[in-house]
Amino acid sequence: QNNTKVTVVGAAGGIGQPLSLLLKQSDLISELSLYDIVKHTPGVAADISHMNFPARVKGFTGPEQLRDSLKGSQVVIIPAGLPRKPGMTRDDLFTANASVVRDVALAVSEVAPTALVGIITNPVNSCVPIFCEVMRKAGKLDPNRIFGVSTLDLVRASAFIGEAKGLNPKEVNCPVIGGHSGISIVPLISQCQPAVQFSQDELAKMVARIQDAGTEVVKAKAGAGSATLSMGFAGARFALSLIKALSGQSNVIECAYVMSDIAGTKYFATPLILGKNGIEKNLGIGKLSNYEQELVNKAIPEIKDNVAKGEQFVK
Ligand code: APR
Repeated sequence: QNNTKVTVVGAAGGIGQPLSLLLKQSDLISELSLYDIVKHTPGVAADISHMNFPARVKGFTGPEQLRDSLKGSQVVIIPAGLPRKPGMTRDDLFTANASVVRDVALAVSEVAPTALVGIITNPVNSCVPIFCEVMRKAGKLDPNRIFGVSTLDLVRASAFIGEAKGLNPKEVNCPVIGGHSGISIVPLISQCQPAVQFSQDELAKMVARIQDAGTEVVKAKAGAGSATLSMGFAGARFALSLIKALSGQSNVIECAYVMSDIAGTKYFATPLILGKNGIEKNLGIGKLSNYEQELVNKAIPEIKDNVAKGEQFVK
C-alpha cells in the first residue's frame, strides 16, 4: 500500500536533505512534500525527484506555502530551525527554535490535525511540549500522534556498543529512555540485545559517550555544524517506522520522547509499539539496574525544567 503523504518541514537543511533523500527510497510513500523557508527548496525537490522511485516529490517555500505543503499529510517530520554551534547547548537554541515549532504546530493544527508528527528541532525536550500545547489550545491535541525523535540516541548506542564489543552494530538493540539532551539521555545497557557485559567504569564511560555524542560531532566539525547525516538517517528510520505502522505492519517498535506519566515529568522517552493511530502501547521502562535508576533520577529534574520552559513559552 503506497498512499502515504509525508511532509518534511526544514527539508533544505543539513538534516532535511539526507532525510528526504532516504525517504524518497521508500515504496510506501506516494507523495513527498518538501518545505523550507529558503527559496531553493523547489530545487532540492527537483533534484531528489530524479531518483527512480515512485514517490512524487514537490517543493514548497515561504511562509505562504507552509499550509499547502502540509495539507493531507499523514506523517510530518520537522527538522526546521537553527542547529547547535560550538559552545552552545541544545538549550541555547530554545529562543530561536521555539517560535519555529509553534508556527509549524499551528499550521498542522489547521490543515493536518491527525498527522503523525516527528519533531527533530532541538531542544526536543522543550519543543515537543510546545507542539502539544499549541495543538491543545487549538482543540486538536492527540498525544499519541506527537513524537520527539530521539532515535539518534539509540542508533549511537548500538554503534558504540557494537564497536566496543566487536558485534555487528545492526544487530545491537539498546533502548534509550528519558530525554534527548545530555544527562536526560538514559541508555538501558542492562536491557541491550544481545546482552553485553561492561565493568562499572566501562559502563560509565559508555553512557557518557552516548550522552555527549552530539558534542563529539560538533567539536569534530570544528565550527561547521552539528550532526546532520546520522540525524538524517535516524529521522528517516523513525519516519519509516511510522509509515510501516500506518500501512498496517504489526509490532513496529521505536523509542521516542512522548507525553507520558511514567516518570512524573509529563514527557519521557520509552519504547513504544506504533500503530495506525500513533502510539498503540507504551512499553514503559522495564527493570532498571541501580545505576540506570540513578541516571533516571538525574534526568528527571532536567526534563521537568525543559518541559516547563516549553509550556511557559506557549502560555
Ligand atoms: N520553517 C521551515 N524551515 C525553516 C524555518 C521555518 N520557520 N526556519 C529555519 N528553517 C530551515 C532552514 O532554512 C534550514 O534549511 O531549517 C533548516 C535547518 O537546517 P540547518 O540550518 O542545516 O540545521 P540542521 O543541522 O539541519 O538542524 C536542524 O534539527 O537536530 C536539530 O538542533 C538541530 O534544531 C536543529 C534542527
